[in-house]
Amino acid sequence: MEEYISIDPSDYHVFHPRPVYLIVVKKNKGYNVMAASWVSPVSEEPPLAAIALEKSSYTRQLIDVGSEVTINIVGEEHAEIVYKAGTLSGRKVDKWKLLNLEPIASRKISVPGIKNAYGFVEGIVKNIVEAGECDLVIVEILNINVRKDLYEKYGWDLRKARILMHVRGRVFSTPGKLLFVKK
Ligand SMILES: Cc1cc2nc3c(=O)[nH]c(=O)nc-3n(C[C@H](O)[C@H](O)[C@H](O)COP(=O)(O)O)c2cc1C
Repeated sequence: MEEYISIDPSDYHVFHPRPVYLIVVKKNKGYNVMAASWVSPVSEEPPLAAIALEKSSYTRQLIDVGSEVTINIVGEEHAEIVYKAGTLSGRKVDKWKLLNLEPIASRKISVPGIKNAYGFVEGIVKNIVEAGECDLVIVEILNINVRKDLYEKYGWDLRKARILMHVRGRVFSTPGKLLFVKK
């Protein structure tokens, strides 16, 4: 054990870097957008993803079971937008306007994706599970849109798609190396 030190159990940074997404939900007039990196696929059949959403966020306040949501996949060129969407609350400012976001129509729901995102997932909140200061929002995925120029048969073309990952605070990263293992 000498080669290890013990760190604070609440130090979630051991799970980072991890991709960060822009979550769009409907508000009174228009849409709210927030950054979220605690997002994961959790089932293929049916297709489900989970978002750990702070109970205190405006986004959480705006949604319930049955709400529509888009999960937008973004890249390094979106880092500034992501940081602002993740540090300002829609309770105080219209982030959609402030960040000059443009909608791109979804195919299955009325909440749009964000124009120029690498892709966006359309879903409906299926279930909400309590988890500490967060709620785990389980989203049923109804449709996925990916940019034709960035997605290949087996997933993101990482030579072109500079998927944005969150390290900590204002530090972000992108996947830098492809490794191919033997069969
Ligand atoms: C890179 C990054 C990742 C974040 N990931 C999450 C997350 O997974 N879950 C969450 O609840 N908040 C996350 N946040 C914080 C929210 O985006 C932030 O609290 C935001 O202001 C909430 O906006 P809202 O009040 O308009 O909903 C993240 C912030 C940043 C900058």
